[in-house]
Amino acid sequence: MDKKIIVAIDGYSSSGKSTMAKALARLTGYIYVDSGAMYRAVTLYGLRKGAVSAERGVDEAALTALLPEIDIQFRKDEAGNQRTLLNGEDVEHEIRDLEISNLVSPVAALHPVREYLVGLQKGYGRERGIIMDGRDIGTVVFPDAEMKVFVEATAEVRAHRRLREMLEEGNEATYEEVLHNILERDRIDTTRKESPLRKAPEAITFYNNEIPLEEQMMVLHKIFDERVAQANAKDNG
Ligand code: CDP
Repeated sequence: MDKKIIVAIDGYSSSGKSTMAKALARLTGYIYVDSGAMYRAVTLYGLRKGAVSAERGVDEAALTALLPEIDIQFRKDEAGNQRTLLNGEDVEHEIRDLEISNLVSPVAALHPVREYLVGLQKGYGRERGIIMDGRDIGTVVFPDAEMKVFVEATAEVRAHRRLREMLEEGNEATYEEVLHNILERDRIDTTRKESPLRKAPEAITFYNNEIPLEEQMMVLHKIFDERVAQANAKDNG
């Protein structure tokens, strides 16, 4: 039997990471985990409980105290789409709202939040056979991942992609608002002290400016097969 590996896909916001990760999970039968959804769910919980607000920002002590109450699970709906559950409630739609997108990066910059979520993420990968996307998956969560991909695209391409997704899902926004949010999150995510977004030296860079998904998947699947073969060979050698 083939050895199971870990695939880490990192990159800037709305670069198409999750589309690639989900497609690869379908092709390989691996579990897919959207680590960004976990930071978004914590942000939503903090907002509901008053520890996070657009006017006052993030109350780190209050949010830290809430962390043990937060349970995050993933499940698939009838159409096979992944849904995020916050304490059992399906919050998939709500966490994609611009209000959450505007608050999530300051929340994700906090040490207690990262410690809590990284702990859960490492647990999901214990059996390997997992594809996770985010900002620090190849650098912090799974530094030993057999396959690491770093996805880049221009801010304009990313803003158009995200706006399209949001409108399709019934979340309202303008192009200018989305572009502003993307640039601001890029800035916070790359400059924060704790686990900043950066490419792992051994990660393969993918420039994702409107490459058709089928082409991306051919390349990714080939790399995946090579990495599995290497893992098998290492195991037998
Ligand atoms: O899908 P999108 O590119 O908009 O972002 P996301 O993956 O949903 O992540 C939302 C935010 O969570 C990011 O902008 C980061 O601030 C944070 N995040 C993080 O810090 N570390 C991760 N592994 C994943 C997300």
